[in-house]
Amino acid sequence: MKTKILNLKKFKSKKKIICLTAYSKPFAKILDNYCDIILIGDSMATAFYGMENTSNLSIETMINHGTSVKKGSKKSIIVFDMPINSYRNINEAKRNVRKVLNKVRCDAIKIESNGRNFNIINSLVKLNIPVMGHIGYTPQFKKKFKVQGLIKKEEDKLIEESLKIQSAGAFSIVLECISQRTAKKITETLKIPTIGIGSSRYCDGQILVTDDLLGLSGFKPKFVKKYINIQEVIKKAIKRFSDDVRKNKFPLKEHTF
Ligand code: KIV
Repeated sequence: MKTKILNLKKFKSKKKIICLTAYSKPFAKILDNYCDIILIGDSMATAFYGMENTSNLSIETMINHGTSVKKGSKKSIIVFDMPINSYRNINEAKRNVRKVLNKVRCDAIKIESNGRNFNIINSLVKLNIPVMGHIGYTPQFKKKFKVQGLIKKEEDKLIEESLKIQSAGAFSIVLECISQRTAKKITETLKIPTIGIGSSRYCDGQILVTDDLLGLSGFKPKFVKKYINIQEVIKKAIKRFSDDVRKNKFPLKEHTF
């Protein structure tokens, strides 16, 4: 397995793992200074393309964004989120993952768990492809949002699922919208690092959709901390441009050939 990935596994219980999403080179270039992992997330469907959900996002579209992200990053581990319907069986997964690795040159891929696809993770790991798992509220498979692991029965199921993903060879696992108690138990049980989103501070690392923490997407669920209202910053700049043009204050001599 690649050194970067092996190093990340050593972070477990020692150093928090920083992970954010990027869909383009300019964002990746900024994130690369602070992130251990940059995820080319299928959240681009809603956050970037304004789609209702991730169901209609094609692998080709994601690959285009992936190649852009790759150009902006030097240090971080680049993980490509396999979109829905790109890994329904082993052959389809192998074919699409090969295409992604060839074109994007990313370090790893992520696949959402449907509670059955452990063999797909394992067959990719056997080909020496680093795989990140994803459990809890998995938007590709669970259409209605619900916090996961609030009751004992769900907790046991999630622990079992996480252990199967670890056994299949995943190098880390995203825990999405899982109750604090269950996320803590999973993190304590597993040897591989857990990356939480809406799953408490007891995970080994944290991920958010960058557009959400910047206030760009307009999506603000309970688990997102908005660090800036970038929409306001952009609005002010656009208004100044618009005022300048109307008042003939732009372009000036220094902007003219
Ligand atoms: O697509 C995405 O951005 C994700 C993260 C929210 C984990 O899967």
